[in-house]
Amino acid sequence: MSFRSAPLTVPVPSEVKAGLFDATIRAAIDAHVARYPAEWKQSAVMPALTLVQDWNGGWLSRELMDDVARYLDMPAIAVYEVATFYNMYDLEPTAKNKVCVCNSISCMLNGSEELIAHVEHKYGLKPGQTSADGRFTFKEVECLGACRHAPAVLVGRTYHEGLTPEALDKLIKGLG
Ligand code: FES
Repeated sequence: MSFRSAPLTVPVPSEVKAGLFDATIRAAIDAHVARYPAEWKQSAVMPALTLVQDWNGGWLSRELMDDVARYLDMPAIAVYEVATFYNMYDLEPTAKNKVCVCNSISCMLNGSEELIAHVEHKYGLKPGQTSADGRFTFKEVECLGACRHAPAVLVGRTYHEGLTPEALDKLIKGLG
């Protein structure tokens, strides 16, 4: 018995793929695709979405998700499923900086709710909203994998751990 499924979509011609994103992004996606057997190129969907999101200034439009589906020869619905399930993908425009406060169990037990309430009161922001000056988008996220030093906050690719409301203020003040 084979567990390999039949292709889910008709492969998109290479000349169409050559017009998607830009050459740098295509090369970066190709590098991820190369890590998997040819028939499993869809396994690269998460890094592909991350690359395209960064290239697009921090968010994914429906058209870009469709392009990722075309590039990886997979159904668009399967890309939407991934992009809507994981909260590192944003489907609306965001500020350049994303202040992502983890509110999973370890962080919750160590002060993340206090951080979230602080941002709500001091900056007037609910999770998902962008500051009035456009400097940052505030996000409440699931476990960041930094539970040992909770509460954890991720800004860009940088982790900030064991934060107090005062330390978070300092961090926000320093955002470019
Ligand atoms: Fe917050 Fe794991 S629970 S980093």
